[in-house]
Amino acid sequence: MTQASLGESVVQKTVHAAQNNGVAANITQTQPLWLLAEVTYRCPLHCAFCYNPTDYDKHTQNELTTEQWIQALRDARKLGALQLGISGGEPLLRDDIEDIVIEAKKLGYYSNLITSGVGLTEKRIKAFKEGGLDHIQLSMHDITEEINNFITNTKTFELKKKVAAMIKDHGYPMVLNVVIHRYNIGHLKEILEMADALGAEYVELANTQYYGWSLVNRSQLMPTREQIEEAERITNEFREKAGSKMKIFFVVPDYFSDRPKKCMNGWGEVFMIVTANGDVLPCHSARVLPNMQFPNVKDTDLGWSWKESPAFNKYRGDDWMKEPCRSCSEKANDLGGCRCQSFLLTGDAEVADPVCTKSPHHHLIEQAIIDAQNPVIAAQPIVFRNDKNSKKIIAGELNERTEQFHALP
Ligand code: FES
Repeated sequence: MTQASLGESVVQKTVHAAQNNGVAANITQTQPLWLLAEVTYRCPLHCAFCYNPTDYDKHTQNELTTEQWIQALRDARKLGALQLGISGGEPLLRDDIEDIVIEAKKLGYYSNLITSGVGLTEKRIKAFKEGGLDHIQLSMHDITEEINNFITNTKTFELKKKVAAMIKDHGYPMVLNVVIHRYNIGHLKEILEMADALGAEYVELANTQYYGWSLVNRSQLMPTREQIEEAERITNEFREKAGSKMKIFFVVPDYFSDRPKKCMNGWGEVFMIVTANGDVLPCHSARVLPNMQFPNVKDTDLGWSWKESPAFNKYRGDDWMKEPCRSCSEKANDLGGCRCQSFLLTGDAEVADPVCTKSPHHHLIEQAIIDAQNPVIAAQPIVFRNDKNSKKIIAGELNERTEQFHALP
């Protein structure tokens, strides 16, 4: 799945309910409206753009048990969480998703399974329907078998089409997520036609955001500005034609914007992520930040984690800001952008997100766009997301690819 996929679809439903944005007190009045349960880092796909941490291999041995997940769901609901995303890795690699779905229904969550489709069978989808799962979001990659199989490093093209049909047959709305990058951006019209043919009600075209594996592969994945403008034009044209029968979200890539995104709709404002091993995070990438201790549900109360933990309070509000963000008239719009992106690109989590044209580090973004068009740099092989490469990154064996960024792994 993508980072963007959370940011866009959920915020539309929940932002109106977020209270007290900007509070930097030790005990926040905000509530986690969205709980993302990253139930496993295991995955049968090996996507080059995966946002999961490059050092995920450290966290595959100590996954939470079913009981621990159920407790986390209960505790998050008490804090106010309403929307549950069940994600991974590939969540269907766990055989207790049915139990998690049943509990989510009992607790009153609106639940969304975010899946590659691998592992979804008739038996399981029936159980999900009966258990009360509200929504399934399926990732698709391209209209060609070649690109689908290349970018995921698997043979899953036919399977995805079958799974899409199965989801539709069971009365779920057809929700497709397509991560956009250099390899498929030229096929956007055909991708939208395929979505239409599959009966998609919602299509999210999520331009790659550069974290985790996609940051390592940035020069191999990033399209040109012209390609993005053309993609947006095609999307708008298709949107007009499709009318209300298919909603299309085009998530603009922040590297090509003048201002940064308000990441996660604000640190510790509405999103809470519980990772496979139980770490509680305000965003997917937070563990790259230095000198931060994130609580873990195995030994820490979720209410304390959200309200009082130093980690969740660290970047709430704007007290932490440096110039130029501190005195910026637009700071409420984006809260200085993404803390993880600032750190990953500059080594300092408290500076303005380099995406911002007011940032003294904006040249790093401009250079990244130039590098992606440099045939020598762009010709480097893709580092696919898999256990072997994760182990290599942890061991420092891929330093020639990661040393250009801070904090990888
Ligand atoms: Fe944006 Fe961490 S990913 S704050």
